[in-house]
Amino acid sequence: MSFTRRAAVAFVGVAALLSAAACGGDDGGGADSKNVEVFTWWSDGGEKAGLDGLVSRFNTDCAGQTFQNGAVAGGAGANAKSVLASRLQQGDPPDTFQAHAGAELLDYIDAGQIEDISANYDTWGLKAAFPPGLISNLTVDGKIYSVPANIHRANVVWSNKKVLAEAGVTTDPKTLVEFFAALDKVRAAGVKAPLAVGKDWTQLMLFESVLISNLGAEKFTGLWNGSTDWNGADVTTSINDFKRLLTYTNSDRDALDWTDAEKLVMDGKAAYQLMGDWEAADLDAKGFTDYGYLTFPGNGSTFQWLADSFVLPKGAKNAGGTECWLKTVGSAEGQKAFNTKKGSIPARTDAVPADYPKYQQSAMADWKSATQVPSCAHGAACSQGWQGAANSALGAFSTKQDVASLQKALASAAGQFTKK
Ligand code: GAL
Repeated sequence: MSFTRRAAVAFVGVAALLSAAACGGDDGGGADSKNVEVFTWWSDGGEKAGLDGLVSRFNTDCAGQTFQNGAVAGGAGANAKSVLASRLQQGDPPDTFQAHAGAELLDYIDAGQIEDISANYDTWGLKAAFPPGLISNLTVDGKIYSVPANIHRANVVWSNKKVLAEAGVTTDPKTLVEFFAALDKVRAAGVKAPLAVGKDWTQLMLFESVLISNLGAEKFTGLWNGSTDWNGADVTTSINDFKRLLTYTNSDRDALDWTDAEKLVMDGKAAYQLMGDWEAADLDAKGFTDYGYLTFPGNGSTFQWLADSFVLPKGAKNAGGTECWLKTVGSAEGQKAFNTKKGSIPARTDAVPADYPKYQQSAMADWKSATQVPSCAHGAACSQGWQGAANSALGAFSTKQDVASLQKALASAAGQFTKK
């Protein structure tokens, strides 16, 4: 925030001050300075519905500013992140972009690409609005660099109820052994590939869930902070279990995004898919209602979390407009407009569960009582470099199915990327 704008707002009352500080941005950025380019990968279905909800709130809160959609399609930012990296490198940042709380955010902070917005947190009263654990995932050396929009859960299995009923699967599997038995049953009923999966990062998610089942929450978290050995026997067991799970999946997996795999479930060509809870919103947006959901078998009460947050990049053309966007993202109304459509739960602790669809109500309850572990596929647990190495190791495994090579590649990625 510039000195000039601070001086100007000193003359107005408190309410006006808040809106002027956030929304009155004259950043001197020239003809386009009222455009706020928001860079995400939310281009379709439930993701777009969530973004649209946030934008409608932004339009109300930030009159005079214009939302500019900078979305680049591709689940988990598979395409967006490389476009973003090259724009940041060329000094052409969007006005704001989505970044996952945790290790991924640290990449941008370490590279000096985003601004410290701690002062906004104080002005907007955000420190008290978010859970302390999340605040600590956003804080580096006492400074905060982004505003979280939500909490997503990664370790959820989505199902086609009709397919399960036809196969005679009447209860949700609670362990990996029960999961294999249910998959066998569905296959015996004529569904060739009962577990739908897509390419690399979706396989990494599935594998992370298997690791949680076999290692438990604490040892799983230790994989990302150096306290659990990737060469251990429980990791080998997990790779073997994962290999077995792949035998139930569609053979074209490496060519599919998460939405393509989801379609297999909707079309009754598969019974189950492990995916983050953006799938709830996407199934709703696509009008598919006959779905069930369960925590990945064996994960018990572990909640594998990730959080989308928005940042103010260094050199953003319309910093004032971005501040207004960030204020909306962090506001109770903004979080409601976004999360009721996105499948996630609000990061704020003051949300009213009754305002949310049924799935999110259950996720809100779980978030409070469950043991939390971070996701690597979605940037909470591991840096982008580590995530890239894990994705390519999983990609290679999908073709070669070589257990020892996968374990070696994952152990070597951990050796390279674990923060000392
Ligand atoms: C995640 C992101 C979610 C959702 C998902 C699928 O990385 O945090 O909000 O968009 O990718 O694209």
